[in-house]
Amino acid sequence: MKSLWKVLRVASLFVLLPFHTSASPAHDDRPGTRHANGHVCVGCVVVLSVIEQLAQVHNATAQAAMERLCSYLPVKLFLKSTCYLVVRTFGPDIIKLLNADMSADVVCHALEFCEQVPGQPLCHLYPLPKVAWKFTLEKAREIVKGSPTLKYSRSSADICCLPFLAKICQEIKSAIQNSVPFKDVDSDKYSVFPTLRGYHWRGRDCNDSDEMAYPGRRPDNWDAHQDSNCNGIWGVDPKDGIPYEKKFCEGSQPRGIILLGDSAGAHFHIPPEWITASQMSLKSFFNLPTALTNELNWPQLSGATGFLNSTSRMKENSIYLRLRKRNRCNHRDYQNLSKNGASSQNLERFIESLSRKELLDHPAIVIYAMIGNDVCSRKIDPVPEMTTPEQFYSKVMESLKFLNSHLPNGSHVILYGLPDGAFLWDHLHDRYHPLGQLNEDVTYDQFYSFLSCLQITPCHGWMSSNQTLRTLTSERAEQLSNTLKKIATSKKFTNFDLFYVAFDFQEITKKWQKRGGQPWQLIEPVDGFHPNEIALLLLADGFWNKVQHQWPHILGKENPFNPQIEQVFGDQGGH
Ligand SMILES: *[C@@H]1O[C@H](CO)[C@@H](O)[C@H](O)[C@H]1NC(C)=O
Ligand SMILES: *[C@@H]1O[C@H](CO)[C@@H](O)[C@H](O)[C@H]1NC(C)=O
Ligand SMILES: *[C@@H]1O[C@H](CO)[C@@H](O)[C@H](O)[C@H]1NC(C)=O
Ligand SMILES: *[C@@H]1O[C@H](CO)[C@@H](O)[C@H](O)[C@H]1NC(C)=O
Ligand SMILES: *[C@@H]1O[C@H](CO)[C@@H](O)[C@H](O)[C@H]1NC(C)=O
Ligand SMILES: *[C@@H]1O[C@H](CO)[C@@H](O)[C@H](O)[C@H]1NC(C)=O
Repeated sequence: MKSLWKVLRVASLFVLLPFHTSASPAHDDRPGTRHANGHVCVGCVVVLSVIEQLAQVHNATAQAAMERLCSYLPVKLFLKSTCYLVVRTFGPDIIKLLNADMSADVVCHALEFCEQVPGQPLCHLYPLPKVAWKFTLEKAREIVKGSPTLKYSRSSADICCLPFLAKICQEIKSAIQNSVPFKDVDSDKYSVFPTLRGYHWRGRDCNDSDEMAYPGRRPDNWDAHQDSNCNGIWGVDPKDGIPYEKKFCEGSQPRGIILLGDSAGAHFHIPPEWITASQMSLKSFFNLPTALTNELNWPQLSGATGFLNSTSRMKENSIYLRLRKRNRCNHRDYQNLSKNGASSQNLERFIESLSRKELLDHPAIVIYAMIGNDVCSRKIDPVPEMTTPEQFYSKVMESLKFLNSHLPNGSHVILYGLPDGAFLWDHLHDRYHPLGQLNEDVTYDQFYSFLSCLQITPCHGWMSSNQTLRTLTSERAEQLSNTLKKIATSKKFTNFDLFYVAFDFQEITKKWQKRGGQPWQLIEPVDGFHPNEIALLLLADGFWNKVQHQWPHILGKENPFNPQIEQVFGDQGGH
């Protein structure tokens, strides 16, 4: 989700990464009215919590804990050096406050990274201190009175404005620009680079200097001379002079997979190792640089278009890998056009990055999965913000018309329903958040309230202790799902047929429980909101089984030449 990405970027204020790419999430439809600094506040509280807990775990001073945290960060992207710089600047104040036994909430308010707007509730993560809050805060303010660092926190909108970071920001920006040709998020180009919307997101380009070579196209001259569709099959069989692509792929009905999704589709994920002091080590942050350049998404591991082996030891594969296994001619033909914050209402802003030429390319299976943002808002009163069934209907139809004019004939579109997100509260509210596990002091209930209070929650409707509100949100989600169902059964398009699949969280919960798992293990622990990798792969499995059983023509035939393709071309050159 957009806001969580911002939190992390803001956490960079202290330890992470002070660069701003234009690769930030979709856009901001609904800017908050107050607490413009909510993300700064959460970033501060999270980082301060980690420092405090590292000190506790290692029986060390706050100073040593901060240095330990910096030492764990990778050198790449200047993470480590930035961390030391930040510690040098903010460290002395933080040490004074933590040594006086102040909680992360108090420290962040005293340093003015968090603020209480007059007339609004006080936002805090930890239980309020036993001595009255006001008194403690006064004391904390006394300690840092006149400190030069206060002026930084007051002007921290862009961390690169901080004088001591300006130089390093410049270096990072130019390092990025020089090392990776920057692919605009909305470009429809395939890429030979993994991140910044490269091949982690869609099939790797096999010839960057040839615009007419890309995954998914119908082969040019049966790929006798070069691999025009990047599926790793090309050249001529010396035995009989027949091009391999013709021999192995003709009539096999190749097809690609395209996901139009949101942050769940993109697999938004903040590893709990990044904030769990008791398990933190040199290994914890090795994946941080890649994650930051992928907007904290992990499409390469996602249920729809993932191509790496699961990190959670699941045997289930992504839909893309299954399509590839079914027909090796489908190699590399995937596109994941998911965006954090995407909804039916803003899809039009990036659907044009879809890359499919009606006449030149193979048909595609398109999964439309806007599973939350139409009912999820961060506003105090989220109900008026929700997409109505009428608004929903009209935008979905617009998107389908767009697809009809861009997809090759014979394609398939599958509309994915919205989940009933009430399971989030039901399974998590009384469990401890990773920040609360060490001292058993932060539950998801508290974590959700903190985010709602700051108006940066990814989904106020479902991440709320207000049962009436949760029920209202579920009802709206159901209405929107019914709208999709109605469209799927009543509308016809010339270039694709249309189906509806429910987002059945209960079904995957049952499957998981049969294996001895618990429902809460299917939710991202840090944000307490997104389905995690296990859930995404179980969903992909459920999706595949349903389609195979009810509409097998969507998946195409099993290619009898798969073993020969593997024999001649091996792994076909990665993804
Ligand atoms: C923690 O460190 C202090 C001072 O270095 C020492 O007195 C104390 O015994 C240590 N506590 C534990 C549990 O190691
Ligand atoms: C694709 O979708 C998956 C979820 O299905 C997501 O995790 C991933 O980040 C998205 N992006 C790419 C490039 O695969
Ligand atoms: C890439 O495309 C260019 C231009 O069409 C062509 O000359 C070159 O041989 C291609 N390279 C490969 C490895 O196919
Ligand atoms: C995935 O796992 C399989 C079997 O466990 C292994 O053969 C393969 O090399 C792995 N692939 C990657 C990309 O790690
Ligand atoms: C599209 O394909 C279907 C069969 O898959 C065929 O009946 C139809 O005539 C085709 N439409 C066009 C415009 O070619
Ligand atoms: C719970 O949510 C409903 C619907 O938004 C609202 O009308 C009601 O005032 C809320 N109750 C509380 C106690 O906030």
